[in-house]
Formats: sequence, C-alpha cells, structure tokens
Amino acid sequence: MEKLLITGPTTLKGEVEISGAKNAAVAILPATLLIDGVCTISNLPNISDVKLSCEILEALGAKITWEDKNTITVDSTNINTTIAPLELTNKFRASYYIIGAMLGRKGAVQVSMPGGCQLGARPIDQHIKGFEALGATVTVEKGLINAKAEKLEGNSIYMDIVSVGATINAMLAAVLAEGTTVIDNAAKEPHIVDVANFLNTMGADIRGAGTDVIKVRGVEKLKGGTSYSVVPDQIEAGTFMLAAVASQGDLLIKNCITKHLESITAKIIEVGGHVEDNGDSIHVWADKRPKHATIKTLPYPGFPTDLQPQMGVVLSLAEGTSIINESIWDSRFQYTEELIKMGAKINAQGTRAFFEGVDHLEGAHVYSTDLRASAALIVAGIVAEGETSVYNLEHIDRGYENIEEKFRKIGANIKRVNE
Ligand code: EPU
Repeated sequence: MEKLLITGPTTLKGEVEISGAKNAAVAILPATLLIDGVCTISNLPNISDVKLSCEILEALGAKITWEDKNTITVDSTNINTTIAPLELTNKFRASYYIIGAMLGRKGAVQVSMPGGCQLGARPIDQHIKGFEALGATVTVEKGLINAKAEKLEGNSIYMDIVSVGATINAMLAAVLAEGTTVIDNAAKEPHIVDVANFLNTMGADIRGAGTDVIKVRGVEKLKGGTSYSVVPDQIEAGTFMLAAVASQGDLLIKNCITKHLESITAKIIEVGGHVEDNGDSIHVWADKRPKHATIKTLPYPGFPTDLQPQMGVVLSLAEGTSIINESIWDSRFQYTEELIKMGAKINAQGTRAFFEGVDHLEGAHVYSTDLRASAALIVAGIVAEGETSVYNLEHIDRGYENIEEKFRKIGANIKRVNE
C-alpha cells in the first residue's frame, strides 16, 4: 500500500508555484464537447481527475493529443456515441458536466450517477431543474441518468440553492440552445467565470458569470480553433497559505489570483498571520502560534468549504477555542477523527466542530477520507512532531499536482513509499 511518510515538525519556507484549477479543468474538458472542431487547453493540472475526464471524452469520440504534461489538444469533430462509459463516469463527481455538454452537442446522453468524495448527500435536482427548463427530459433510474432533448430552448432558471455544478451545467446546456437563458441565484466561484471565459473564447455569448445572474444567448456553433489557459487553483493556493500559517513559516505563493483569496487572507490576518498581496503572487507568513477564530463556510466569495479541513489544522493549533460551521456539506468533519489521533482536541457535532487548540500535534497513522481531508492531513503531518503516515493517496492524487514535490521544495520531509 502506498503512503506518504512525513517527518516533522518543519517550518515551511520558500516559493511554490500554483497549478491550474482542478474544478475549472474538470468542467472545461467536458465543455470541449460543444465545439465542432479543435481547441488547445493549457495550464491543466496533471492530476487523476483530469486524466479521467480525458478518458471520458475519448470514449465519446474526441481525439486528445498531449502536447506536454499540462497541455492538450482536443478534437471533438467526431462525437460518435451518446453513452458515456459507466465505469468512468461513476468514479468522480464532475462527470455530471458530460450531461450539460452532451445535451448541447447531441441532444442526448447516458451517464451513471456521479461518484466523488463522500461529503454527505450530493443531490442533482438543481442540475435536472436546469435541463428541464431548457426542454430536456431527464430520467434517473437504477443508477443511470438519461437525458434527451429534441431541441433546447432558452428559458429562465432560478436555482433554489447556490450550486457550482448546477450553474455550470445550465451554462453548458444553454450555450447552443435557441434563444436566451437567464440563470438566477447562480454560483459565483472563480471556476464558473473560467468556464464562461473558455466558452466565450470559443464563440459563446455568456455574460454576468461571477455575479448571481448569468445570461446565455444561444449561438449556432462554437468555432474552436483557439487555445485557452486554465485559471490558477484558488484551493491549492489557499492550502499553501494555510500551511504557511500552521507551520509558522514564510511562503511566497506564485501564479495565483489574489482577488480569489480574499476570504482566506481575512481569516489568516484574524488568527495573527501576515499576508502581502502582490497581484499575481501572495506572501504569507506567521511568527507565532495562531489565535482562535470562528469560521463559517459559504459559497464564493465566502470562506470555501474546500479549505475547511486545512483551516481545521490551523485552529487545532490555535490558542483558545475555535468553531467551524460547515454550511455546504453535511459530512465534512471526517478528517477530525484523524487529527484527534495526532493529539488535536476537536469535538465535531454534525455540521459544527469545536477546536480546543493544543500547542503541538504528534505524528500518527492517518487515513484520508476525501481530497481536502488528505491535504489537511499532509499539512498536519508536516507540523507534527515525529513521523506521520498518510494513507489512501488516491484522494490527494485526484486534485493536487505533484503535492509531495511541492512541499519538499519548501522544506518538508515527505516521501511516497510503498509498504
Ligand atoms: N445541491 C443540491 N442540489 C443540487 C446541487 C447541489 O441540493 O442539484 C447542494 C449540495 O448538496 C450542497 C450545495 O448544494 O449542499 C452546494 O453544492 P454544489 O453543487 O455547489 O457542489 P458541487 O458542484 O457538487 C463543487 C466542487 C466541490 C465543492 C463544491 C462547493 C467540483 C467538481 N466540485 O461541487 O469540490 O466542495 O462545489 O464549493 O467543482 C473538492 O474539490 O474537494 C470538492 C468537493
């Protein structure tokens, strides 16, 4: 069994380069299905979720050429089936984007119910509401989703809940629909804007992405023939920012969009860390033990749920008692059981957890339960005294490019070993 073996404690110091955003990449790749032609996508993170997305596109008939480890050319001229392989689509969450894209391109699709991290209930009712508003019929039976539309027509879609996936899916399905679609109560995450920018570069007419009302004027065709670079990963940048604070270190985090990091910056300053915003890089350092804080996860521009476990490591080490309220997912405190093995004092009750700060953590054998939990456990291992073994590496490999090398470069004693 593979594990990450980490020996700590380490004060992280130096520079780290942020990769392209996973959650933008896994939506942009399906979006290429809407193009009757070729496009090049660069700054793709080299992670297993991207490879899986590419395999699904290939199974549908797209031709993919890897130009280098972060750049691909996709030729979607010959999409020759509407059935996406179930053994691929059930492996991760973002396979739901195949539905919006294939409805737009072919007017039909069959996929499995999406898999992905176990964070509690993950319904897709708002995705279906969007497709149906545009004229599609959707059935969910025996773990399969079938969607069909003779013709997609623009309409108003009011999202009952702010959903990243449902917003992107509605945009994908609306791009080639006849007429105008208005998505109200849309999610505003940086990856929503990135998918809209990608589609607009290819000839779509989407306005308002990044606000809560998005207007999509349907166009006849997406032309392709151009290239697009994926936005830097907000969550990876935030992970390193919080690692700097947890380790009382000093990091220059390069190739990020600091505007996307404002909620994290605010909380780092609140716990006594320092942040210097350089526009396309951010300098984060801490010279003493963090102070306690109260966090509530919220849709963008609020504090991201995908940084909640990493923040949990900082608060485990903070002076006094901190509280985290998780408002997006029902079951995102599984990592706290692992931190407790390392000496943290955490009382998690449902969607709220109390952190009574301790002055140090100790190495232990810990098991990742999901992607962001893995990142948190790695940070905990780096700051803990002694040896930590982090297991279940398939989670971290889904979403962070070269994680151990990036941490090694800034001083961590971390290696991947096969037991
Ligand atoms: N929801 C519904 N109905 C729907 C869709 C969502 O009730 O039809 C609820 C969810 O149960 C949840 C809330 O709405 O309570 C928000 O869910 P959202 O749809 O925004 O989440 P998602 O699109 O499934 C994406 C990211 C997640 C991230 C969330 C929230 C991708 C592939 N995944 O998921 O990322 O936590 O947005 O920001 O973009 C991760 O990267 O580790 C990860 C889990």
